[in-house]
Amino acid sequence: MSKPKVVVTRQLIDEAQRILEDRKGELEIVQWNSEKPCERAWLLENAKGATGILVMLSDQVNDELLQAAGDQLKVIASFSVGTDHIERAALKKRNVRLGYTPTCLTDAVADLTVMLILMAQRRGGESMAKVIKGEWPQMPWHPLLMTGPQIRGCTVGFLGFGRIAQASLQRLLAFRIKRAIYLTSKPGQPVKEDHFNLVKTANIPIEPAQSADQIASESDVVIVGCALTPDTKHLVSTDFFKKMKKLAVIINIARGPVIDTDALVKALDQDQIFGAGLDVIENEPNIQADHPILKQPRCVLVPHIGSATIETREQMATESVENLLAGLTGKEMVNEVEL
Ligand code: DGY
Repeated sequence: MSKPKVVVTRQLIDEAQRILEDRKGELEIVQWNSEKPCERAWLLENAKGATGILVMLSDQVNDELLQAAGDQLKVIASFSVGTDHIERAALKKRNVRLGYTPTCLTDAVADLTVMLILMAQRRGGESMAKVIKGEWPQMPWHPLLMTGPQIRGCTVGFLGFGRIAQASLQRLLAFRIKRAIYLTSKPGQPVKEDHFNLVKTANIPIEPAQSADQIASESDVVIVGCALTPDTKHLVSTDFFKKMKKLAVIINIARGPVIDTDALVKALDQDQIFGAGLDVIENEPNIQADHPILKQPRCVLVPHIGSATIETREQMATESVENLLAGLTGKEMVNEVEL
């Protein structure tokens, strides 16, 4: 009998690669062997006959791929918390299970959220750029040099209030923010999962918002942390920016298309808001040096590195392989999406 085939669209990190290779005797392992993202044509070709596929967030999992794989496919394991690159309905139709890595990257992304808030408020990117360009001698210290709003006393508004958003709030409490408000798919209703028991224990109000407008108009810091769905695409656009406070900053650690980039550029250009801190942006990674967002001194943009701590990436890799193997044998995954 032939061995079940698994396809992996990246070389993995030490421990995860070892766990995978330990199964060489019982599995046919086909792995993309380059630092560049896996080519679609290679994936479609090699998926044929696969029982499991381990994908990155840059690989689209849709009917085309599932059809190319064939009816024996049992599991997709995604090396990510976000699953917007995966057509869930197509998996459900074929009874294919879906593994993902929602828990192990929470701290890393929450840490980055705080970094982006501070960078945006305290003009970190703009200040560094001036020093790097040799402009420090022309800007000696003075009382208003590079001043920005402070985090203490802020109202922080969350678009999406899942595990990562809540872990970010947990960190922000130490900065003595004043209040938190959040919008979920059920406006005005208390959040279902209070992952760190913050709502009951924090000594500031943490309240559900009635609308995106309320988040825009009452927040000093807006954090985009929701999943990308047809409902959240361009949730933050011209109208939203118009309602924001002039000294407010917007942070995106979720998915680029939740913010309309053209509207953001305009809002920054016209000083409708103070700044932005982005880990993600529409059309990433195809952001060339002449992109208008990069002309905005008060926008800090980093290349989707939210989960990029060494420890987190190792854990994501290991959990993805464990999910893949569990899916092959019908066992319980570390984390599985209910389809
Ligand atoms: C994910 O896993 O979906 C994150 O965007 C990676 O940082």
